[in-house]
Amino acid sequence: MPVRVCFVCLGNICRSPTAEGVMLKLLAETGLSHLFEIDSAGTAGHHVGERPDPRTLSAAKLRGIHLPSRARCFEREDFARFDYVLAMDRHNHDDLMRLAPDGEARDKVHMFLRFAHEPEGATDLPDPYYGGGAGFEHVLDLCDRACRGFLEHVKTAERFE
Ligand code: 4NP
Repeated sequence: MPVRVCFVCLGNICRSPTAEGVMLKLLAETGLSHLFEIDSAGTAGHHVGERPDPRTLSAAKLRGIHLPSRARCFEREDFARFDYVLAMDRHNHDDLMRLAPDGEARDKVHMFLRFAHEPEGATDLPDPYYGGGAGFEHVLDLCDRACRGFLEHVKTAERFE
């Protein structure tokens, strides 16, 4: 069985598509793609059906990262489809906890940035939507560190190696 992971932000056009693309690239580079299913979704539906924000797409492209997603809403039924539901910030986390049908579902929800082990202990991936280009670069840097930490966590938890 693959390990099924869904990255979740608010709109599913900036942060979670970036995390998804970074994770897909990391898995391809480490030869582990066949062990995972990766997806992303949003807690709100304003951008459903849209490709990622153009600023998100161009920042990722400059680093050779392809973002395949089209925005969708995270649904209650998704808890059964995924093993790890990774929230980009505290609001996403709280929305997911309210949506979760039971304790088993709540146990699947984690703060994505915790896996980056930031020295200052930051847990929220800042929303770049209303800011400038530097915010998108910062999101890419944080996603890179958190994806690497998350992969190490899963390798240990799922006994891959
Ligand atoms: P995301 O960013 O949650 O990282 O996709 C946002 C995208 C859209 C909006 C807010 C944040 N919005 O208000 O439309």
